[in-house]
Amino acid sequence: MRAHIVTLPGDGVGPEVTAAAVSVLDAVAAHFDHHFHFEEHQIGGCAIDATGEPLPAASLEACKAADAVLLGAVGGPKWSDPNAPVRPEQGLLALRAALGVYANLRPLQVHEALAELSPLKNEKLKNVDVLFVRELTGGAYFGAKTRTIDTATDECKYTVAEVERVVRRAFQLARERRKHVTSVDKANVLETSRLWRSTVTRVAAEFPDVKLEHQLVDSMAMLLLTQPGRYDVVVTENLFGDILTDEAAALAGSLGLLPSASLGEGKGGLYEPIHGSAPDIAGQGVANPLGAILSAAMLLRHSLGLEQEAAAIEAAVADVIEHGPHTRDIGGKAGTKEVLDAVLVALDEHACNAAAFLR
Ligand code: NAD
Ligand code: IPM
Ligand code: MN
Repeated sequence: MRAHIVTLPGDGVGPEVTAAAVSVLDAVAAHFDHHFHFEEHQIGGCAIDATGEPLPAASLEACKAADAVLLGAVGGPKWSDPNAPVRPEQGLLALRAALGVYANLRPLQVHEALAELSPLKNEKLKNVDVLFVRELTGGAYFGAKTRTIDTATDECKYTVAEVERVVRRAFQLARERRKHVTSVDKANVLETSRLWRSTVTRVAAEFPDVKLEHQLVDSMAMLLLTQPGRYDVVVTENLFGDILTDEAAALAGSLGLLPSASLGEGKGGLYEPIHGSAPDIAGQGVANPLGAILSAAMLLRHSLGLEQEAAAIEAAVADVIEHGPHTRDIGGKAGTKEVLDAVLVALDEHACNAAAFLR
């Protein structure tokens, strides 16, 4: 297959982890006889420095034309002045909106080899396999914003149509899993959450084979720690999803491990690890590349329909998590490059098996 992939390395550790993910995609292409063409563009702080804008028109046009987009991270202290007129994060939000990628899939799995890194007791981490579906193009992130000298507002708005489409996606995904959806809201306080909850209940009637439960976000933050094994698909609005998934990453052992896929109606998609630019470790060659590499696997699965190839990457990553080497965030001493090399070696084996199966 031929595919055109735009890469947006961005800021901080973004370029380091994106380069690792591209190396893995190159290896997949070689093993399975695909042709992936990569085109790199700027986003975030580096784009502000170069052009004054966090999402230059050339980057956006390239992303719209691509089969898929692979992003590293944006932001950092250099651009974080609360009074700055323009911010790196605006570029990412504008990109998500322009691509219409309203469903952000963030899978959480806990590997036994890393269970001791979690703040939880090992027995609670057995069988943790959660798919968060975070609404990505609505809510407080995109509502009107105002600021005067002593007052600021962020409007939080949702329409029924916005809730329906992401919730339907969550139910469809649950059908392929353990058929259990937990919808998280703050319906005891927020009007948007009451609209969310009644819409979810109505959509659920289309999926009688899937069990639905509603959970308030504050108690969900607690339950995620006390009973992580009981959740299957968790669907929630933009801001709650952002916060709960960083919390979930602590169960896996590091923020550096979690991938994401942002999907809309078409085949195209935006793929990025859930972590940020990690300014505290940027430029040192020690960032964990596994979240970015697993995001590349999601790209193959969701945008290119290459399930075997995606599974081969995931198996290779699982091997490296089990046997090492590990970066510092998960208790090891290895650098990004050493971990990448180990993934490539493990991929040789898994890809050969899968390619033989496909022939
Ligand atoms: P962060 O995710 O960048 O870092 C939080 C902590 O996790 C840090 O200690 C960091 O070293 C660690 N970490 C993150 N990724 C890692 C990796 N791959 N390997 C090892 N350790 C890793 O969050 P933050 O410090 O709150 O934010 C920094 C900047 O990143 C901010 O400007 C923020 O807006 C931006 N951000 C961007 C994205 C994105 O581009 N999608 C996501 C989150 C935050
Ligand atoms: C994420 C990040 C972004 C978000 C920021 C950088 C806009 O935290 O992808 O999780 O809040 O969505
Ligand atoms: Mn986040």
